[in-house]
Amino acid sequence: MLTSTDVRPPFLLSLSLALRARSFAFVRGRSPDSAGVSIDLPVQAAEDSPPVNKPIVIKAKGKVADLVSLCDEEMEGLGINQGAAVTNHAGIAHTRWATHGPPCAKNSHPHVSSSNHEFVLVHNGTITNYRALKEFLIKEGEVFATDTDTEVIPKLCNFLYSKLPEPIPFPQLVCEVVKQLEGAYALLIKSSVYPGELVACRRGSPLILGVKYGIQSNGTPKSPTSPNTPLTPKLTGSTASAPHRTGEQNGLELYLASEASAVVEHTKQVIYLEDNDIVHMRDGEYTVYNWSDVDSASVEVRRTTQTLTMEVGQIMKGGYDHFMLKEIFEQPETVAQTMQGRIKATPISPMKFGVPAVDKYLVPRVRLGGLVDYVSIIRRSRRIIFIACGTSYHAAMCSRQTVEELTQMPVGLELSGDVLDRRMPIFRDDTCVFVSQSGETADTMRAMEYAMESGALCVGITNTVGSAIARASHCGIHINAGAEIGVASTKAYTSQIVAITMMAIVLAEDQISKRTRIDEIVESMLDLPESLRMCLQLDESIKELAEGLKDESSLLVFGRGRNYATAVEAALKVKEVSYMHSEGINAGEMKHGPLALVDEFMPIIVIATMEDADMHNKMQGVIQQLMARSARLIILANDDDTEMTEIVQGKYPIVRVPRSDTAVQPILNIIPLQLLSYHLTLKRGHNVDQPRNLAKSVTVE
Ligand code: AGP
Repeated sequence: MLTSTDVRPPFLLSLSLALRARSFAFVRGRSPDSAGVSIDLPVQAAEDSPPVNKPIVIKAKGKVADLVSLCDEEMEGLGINQGAAVTNHAGIAHTRWATHGPPCAKNSHPHVSSSNHEFVLVHNGTITNYRALKEFLIKEGEVFATDTDTEVIPKLCNFLYSKLPEPIPFPQLVCEVVKQLEGAYALLIKSSVYPGELVACRRGSPLILGVKYGIQSNGTPKSPTSPNTPLTPKLTGSTASAPHRTGEQNGLELYLASEASAVVEHTKQVIYLEDNDIVHMRDGEYTVYNWSDVDSASVEVRRTTQTLTMEVGQIMKGGYDHFMLKEIFEQPETVAQTMQGRIKATPISPMKFGVPAVDKYLVPRVRLGGLVDYVSIIRRSRRIIFIACGTSYHAAMCSRQTVEELTQMPVGLELSGDVLDRRMPIFRDDTCVFVSQSGETADTMRAMEYAMESGALCVGITNTVGSAIARASHCGIHINAGAEIGVASTKAYTSQIVAITMMAIVLAEDQISKRTRIDEIVESMLDLPESLRMCLQLDESIKELAEGLKDESSLLVFGRGRNYATAVEAALKVKEVSYMHSEGINAGEMKHGPLALVDEFMPIIVIATMEDADMHNKMQGVIQQLMARSARLIILANDDDTEMTEIVQGKYPIVRVPRSDTAVQPILNIIPLQLLSYHLTLKRGHNVDQPRNLAKSVTVE
């Protein structure tokens, strides 16, 4: 079986797709290496025959702007007025990051069955059995034109279609095709043999359907009644039997995308499609089918429409030059949102007959609605295991100690991919906590499926309502940080730490012995917005620091305890966006190897805040040893740390942050380091919101 790391951004489809639509511009905010679009245009087969609509395909290497220019040229050449209104129009578009074949127009999506464009499609995901399918199709006389795994799909559509004794509905054909596919896919398919129709389907890769209802003559939106009009009960009848209303009559606009932020400016009404769902769009109507196993036919299903809480403003830069900077500066508000309605400022004892009903020390300070029914199960677990990737893994790493400290339970930490690689033993009395900003990371999702099979309780901590992990977990916490657009995760990291810390508090609230400690942590958490605002005032001085570091080729970050997570997260931020090599090092490991890297040239950031006296002493020792080797240091210390001033004696810059509790201090410490990665990136001339080779949601393994 083949695997692929093909990572692709959201694609967007609109039934009234205009190439210059702002939603397409949103996709442009990502960093594709190629892009493509397919819409129907009148094509004249012969001089004396009337023009018929056929899917045309335009693809370009480079960014979406390059595709837009190419489209302008092509439309002009064809004499097409792009401003003209269209009805019942189905178009598909896609942006791609190449891993299966180099970035070029040829490998870009949409892919086609042949130059006749019988079937035209875009694909997110990876087809793992594509070699076998390709071999089969080549034997059947097909000629392949690209290096991609995707190309087998339109060819397979056409192959099966050509073998049909009589026509079958488009979604039924697609159902037969996808039953042959292994791997993950979200597909949007157009066809010249099913003109004006579109089929979308998914398995393993995210796909949402946005539904925008038409406006009535009195100016109000049409009622969203019966959006899923019953069509044929099974996909076995002919297409003519389906009682469609026309798009002109109901003014329905339908959008398909891999994430909600791509459609939010058009509609907030969305359906999160499930694995093996097939959406059929025709005449401005849609029907959802689902197939359960390869031997059974698809049946029509009703999917609930949900209202997005996301605001359009969240996907705009709002006066900032970049999403990353906006999201860094949003953190005083986003951590407050994560805590909102969940943390009580003071424990108020409920009164009964004029006296406190229960011991006031047992009144909870934190309430997490999503965990209420599961707290006792988690408390009885054999162990808690956090499972995540990248920044989400670092957030769990940072908070693990708080969970251990408050619950006194064994707490594990695992990379999602590694859980699967080593088939880690997980038991039915384990609680597995899956942390994922997007809620769609393939490795984390697969690890959750694996844990589910073992019977473990699966808790999801995500930032995306309706995401795969949010839906499939038994219970969870939504971090409420608002849409994070920058590929580099910043505000999600701090909110994830807050969410896990709240979870630790909830689990420990039945222990009187932890009451004082919980109160200390809660007080510091409630101070977080103000303390974060103080950290953000460091922006100008961090910019200067970045100026002195911008030409370096490497940057080390030393931390220990919870701040080891701060160090590795800071290093990830620096390498991810500025492309400078950076490494987070556990200061306790310094003498076991990393010390060899130290000289007067290598810049080293040392995180030495005072929240933990023992840790602070150890970090002072680390600084002294590094100074003894003439290291080039930058110290991160608390604003009231006078001892550090004496140790450093003005030889090195000290970045000062406010003091907080041990459980909370790392949330403050990461802020100047996020700012440093941002400014380093700008000074090194890179695009901070579009780091090369990376996508926001890694939806393939
Ligand atoms: C962080 O800056 C990265 N973009 C990346 O490490 C990310 O955190 C990782 O891919 C996990 O994503 P998730 O939180 O959406 O699961």
